[in-house]
Amino acid sequence: MESFELEQIIDKYRYDESALIGILQDIQQRENYLPQDTLRELARQMGVPLSQVFGLATFYGAFSLKPRGKHLITVCLGTACHVRGSGRVVNRLESQLGVQVGETTKDKQFTLQTVNCLGSCALGPIVVVDGVYHGQMTPKKVRALLK
Ligand code: FES
Repeated sequence: MESFELEQIIDKYRYDESALIGILQDIQQRENYLPQDTLRELARQMGVPLSQVFGLATFYGAFSLKPRGKHLITVCLGTACHVRGSGRVVNRLESQLGVQVGETTKDKQFTLQTVNCLGSCALGPIVVVDGVYHGQMTPKKVRALLK
């Protein structure tokens, strides 16, 4: 992120230290993740310790320190989903997208991640795309899902 863009965001929050989370949300919204250089610059401009900024950035699951694609795909590998075949769904997604779990496609369109339970076990296997739940997922349905 260019430093003038960061300044615009910080300015919007009037350099208020208590608004750090809002600032981080804005950065993530623009970049899809929190670039480390930007976090360093943010700490410098706000006059707060870098550890405080990193502490917030790593505490909230909504933030990512790694580049993320435009679309976030989350596959549940919890026990209930796993016994219904979510492992095969992950394999299909990995081969279809050409990435491993935790990675982002080169065109920055998709990030693939897994979780251990999404609390909707009866609908498993579950895949969440950009916050929308898709139940009873199968490897066959993956292509249509990506479209
Ligand atoms: S195990 Fe997948 S939702 Fe619970």
